[in-house]
Amino acid sequence: MTLAAVVLAAGKGTRMKSGQPKVLFPLGGQPMLGHVLDTLAACRVEKVVVVAGHGLQQVAAYVGERAQVVCQEQQLGTAHALLMAGSALEGFAGDILVLCGDTPLIRPGTLEQLVQEHRRQQAAATVLTAQLADPTGYGRVIREADGRVSRIVEQKDATADELAVKEINTGLYCLRSTGLFAALKEIRPQNAQGEYYLTDIIGLYVGRGERVAALSCADPAEVAGINDRWQLAQAERTYRLRRLEELAKSGVTVLDPEHTYIEVDVTVGPDTVLLPGTYLARGTRIGRGCTIGPNSYLRAAVLGDDVQVCYAVVEESYLGNSCTVGPFAYIRPGCRLADQVKVGDFVELKKATVGMGSKIPHLSYVGDATVGSGVNIGAGTITCNYDGKNKWPTVIEDGAFIGSNTNLVAPVTVGAGAVTGAGSTITKDVPAGALAVERAKQKIVPDWKKKGGQGGE
Ligand code: UD1
Ligand code: CA
Repeated sequence: MTLAAVVLAAGKGTRMKSGQPKVLFPLGGQPMLGHVLDTLAACRVEKVVVVAGHGLQQVAAYVGERAQVVCQEQQLGTAHALLMAGSALEGFAGDILVLCGDTPLIRPGTLEQLVQEHRRQQAAATVLTAQLADPTGYGRVIREADGRVSRIVEQKDATADELAVKEINTGLYCLRSTGLFAALKEIRPQNAQGEYYLTDIIGLYVGRGERVAALSCADPAEVAGINDRWQLAQAERTYRLRRLEELAKSGVTVLDPEHTYIEVDVTVGPDTVLLPGTYLARGTRIGRGCTIGPNSYLRAAVLGDDVQVCYAVVEESYLGNSCTVGPFAYIRPGCRLADQVKVGDFVELKKATVGMGSKIPHLSYVGDATVGSGVNIGAGTITCNYDGKNKWPTVIEDGAFIGSNTNLVAPVTVGAGAVTGAGSTITKDVPAGALAVERAKQKIVPDWKKKGGQGGE
């Protein structure tokens, strides 16, 4: 039996109070819709159709080749939305999973169970339900005395007794394709919201004597529907705790899960310690035995093993084994640090390659630079890489020693083993092994005070 999926994603998301389509709001750094598509990719689904409407262009651009996008021009309700997928699924004979773009935490295993239960029961429709301590806002699942599902009632249409029901409709279903689209056309918008409710398919099927089943999702957090930003915040918390738990179980120490943040596409090796205030954004790869934080932000940062990053920001850069960064360092995109590099406090690096064991311990800006190995860069060193029009490169070769407060006016090269005197403004290349000093000679005026001198000269 084949399986297709339809993701309902056309709604405006009025309760988000935003111009951005709701399903493109990020969760763990990735649009909610992306999570749903990832989950479907993990299931064996033959064809995926996304119903888009509000923000169609944006949604279609985001979905790209991952699914067929169909348009629901007017958002007349979830039944109407599913109907729009009809032509895309013409000739498809199998089961159809219906998901919502605003229910991003659903796991592949749960969808597989839903399909299994649907097939085991040979049902025309199987609804995924959940027991919620606070069911407010969700549709309620109404059952007969014998336990069989009879219908779903929306919050806004429910009686006081129905509102007391704690079993909710997750908005996720497995539906037999045969007869589905014909049945959808029979649904009428006779309800408080004047919408075509997909939920009405349940009562409709039951009324016709078709088999309707229900599966209760064990973890209610998985089926949270996100309608407003507060629910998004709760989902973000669920997502990150889920990811941090996986990391902890794989050998990562997470000191304070409530204050550690993680996005999609992040890996962390065992024996790494994540200290509070760590934010690991997309594309970050951390090796083994590292210590990250407290209070550090890493985005698309690739770290070897035994790296320490403390109160620092690292973006789109590579840090070799045993590097130490911070406190208060800023590694901007395009940096590549070999092993055992030290980047200390109040140091900013941009498009810098730094060789093995080199040290930039304090108060420096190194940009558009190639620094060799075993280099020591004194406090206050600045690469003057920008002349107001162009960016120019600085090269500091192996073993060079840059005196404190040196200005390196690029383009400039300091040769291997060369030294620059503290306070020098270096405008010409320094040959290997040479000393370059550029500063006025110190003048001494003896007994200045006795002669009545005040302040400076
Ligand atoms: C819906 C269910 C409710 C369930 C809840 C679970 C209906 C009538 N109600 O309510 O029983 O408890 O989800 O989260 O189905 N959409 C469209 N086109 C439309 C309307 C909606 O594509 O015309 C999409 C939305 O983008 C969203 C999904 O369908 O992804 C659900 O719509 P939403 O308005 O959020 O429904 P709920 O009120 O949450
Ligand atoms: Ca919803």
